[in-house]
Amino acid sequence: MIIDSSAQLVFPDLFYRLKEFAAGRDAFLKLEGFNVTGSIKLKTAIGMIEDLEERGIATPNETTIIESSSGNLGIALSLVCASKGYRFICVTDPNANNANLIGMQLYGAEVIVVDKPDPKTGYLGRRLQVIDKILQVEPNSIWLNQYANIANKMTHKNTTAAEIAREFDKVDWVFVGAGTTGTLCGVAEGLREKFPNIQVIAVEPEGSVTFGGKPGRRAIPGIGTSVKPKLAQSIDPDEVITISELATIEACHAFAKDYHLLVGGSTGSVLAAIKEKASAFAQSDTIVAISPDLGDKYLDTIYDPSWVDANIRCPAKTSISV
Ligand SMILES: Cc1ncc(COP(=O)(O)O)c(C=O)c1O
Repeated sequence: MIIDSSAQLVFPDLFYRLKEFAAGRDAFLKLEGFNVTGSIKLKTAIGMIEDLEERGIATPNETTIIESSSGNLGIALSLVCASKGYRFICVTDPNANNANLIGMQLYGAEVIVVDKPDPKTGYLGRRLQVIDKILQVEPNSIWLNQYANIANKMTHKNTTAAEIAREFDKVDWVFVGAGTTGTLCGVAEGLREKFPNIQVIAVEPEGSVTFGGKPGRRAIPGIGTSVKPKLAQSIDPDEVITISELATIEACHAFAKDYHLLVGGSTGSVLAAIKEKASAFAQSDTIVAISPDLGDKYLDTIYDPSWVDANIRCPAKTSISV
């Protein structure tokens, strides 16, 4: 394989067969953490930028791309924009992981860290106010708005869902963690067209409001929201499974021990959800779940017992803001 751009380092057909994972049945974990920048968000970043280009809205060396992200999308957009010749401004907050901020800057992104939360709408509200100001003063600037951008969903219909449909003759269950819900909406739409009887299971953390849950404190990034995303209006999962953050962390640790791979928190949540549904699986069912990223960047959080004690078992009154 010869590549011409690092953005081509996407691995579309990597599935980990988890032998006898749930009540003696195998499950298949679609691994997205080997994509360059370390997550499924590389595909989202490519999809949203290509959508602008196809609609004639963005032109390299002319357009400035703006997005609010504290993690995986920010670093993915930094690489994609650098490789295509776009200026990229990422608006983030003090909860962002320092390694991500350094990585974004090394790829040439301009990173704005808002200093304080809005008294009513928190850090997310403050980040959106800053984006509004930039849009007013920067000519040729575009806000991607991943929480409402249809290209976020479509990219997963055209890639993630299609990749699963290519690999399996039938899929009976798919488990997807919900953040912006772009992955969930796209995978659900794509797989339901191919496998009409599939059960689409949305997985979200306790404290997330996306599917009507009570807002609450959350410390694990990736999935869950404090404001229902616009994209989520178009999804009707067959079931929503809510997983506590402690159960997520226990699932991550058990997976490292039993299947020898460190995975991110959102993967831990879907693994816990599969186990919860185990009694519903028939012998011949094909069970697929999406693993958005790996665990190496969480060594000092979800894999650190003192962090888990301080933030999950006996948390102070802090929370992430999206
Ligand atoms: C690690 C991780 N898992 C899951 C998700 C959720 O994906 P989506 O935003 O498509 O719902 C994200 C989104 O940023 C993520 O970073």
